[in-house]
Amino acid sequence: MDQKAFKKEAAKAALAYVPKGCVLGVGTGSTTMYFIQGLKKGWVRGAVPSSKETERALRKKGIRVLDLNQAKKVSLYVDGADEVDPKLMLIKGGGGALTREKIIATAAKKFICIVDESKLVKRLGKFPVPLEVVPMARNQVAREIRKRGGRPVWRKNFITDNGGDILDVHGWKVANPIKKENELERIPGVICAGVFGKRRADLLLVGTPQGVEQFISVTGIRW
Ligand code: A5P
Repeated sequence: MDQKAFKKEAAKAALAYVPKGCVLGVGTGSTTMYFIQGLKKGWVRGAVPSSKETERALRKKGIRVLDLNQAKKVSLYVDGADEVDPKLMLIKGGGGALTREKIIATAAKKFICIVDESKLVKRLGKFPVPLEVVPMARNQVAREIRKRGGRPVWRKNFITDNGGDILDVHGWKVANPIKKENELERIPGVICAGVFGKRRADLLLVGTPQGVEQFISVTGIRW
């Protein structure tokens, strides 16, 4: 099996955790697309998408799309990640949807992350940290990042669903994800940092050659 097949297996395993009639938050990316493919029409009351791409895929499946402002509560959020550390803290934003992903993940009672095993790392940072920034602040934010030892690369020809720019920051070893997240999100002009430390995953499903492995974080929620 290849990476694609492991992503599919993790996505399939997540379907069993979706309560009937719930409001579901849905992430962005190829693993999440496999998850959407497996969702049955009428199973969930509605889904809150983290991107226009996900919204299109949900509509195509005949799943009712909800705006977060309409949704009283989001029971579960399901999404992939670019890196996952042993505490289930994440780097996300490879697809550029990090801001809406973080908002919905934070709003959700539970967060299940679905990945193939290539995403597991001991420490975050090999994958560049995406930052969504206000376009007019891009160079100013980049200077602030360089002062902090990072190497920001502007993701040219890419505009987020919120009209933001993305800077991918190379060269950081993220020893303390929560500290890094707070530090980055305090820089004026940064809309969102792709470090998910404060809102890490509650359950991780990993597609591996041995099957799907499960890891539970210590957030204390009941499954
Ligand atoms: C989207 O912005 C990201 O956060 C994705 O969750 C991440 O890039 C994972 O993507 P794949 O499922 O395509 O690997």
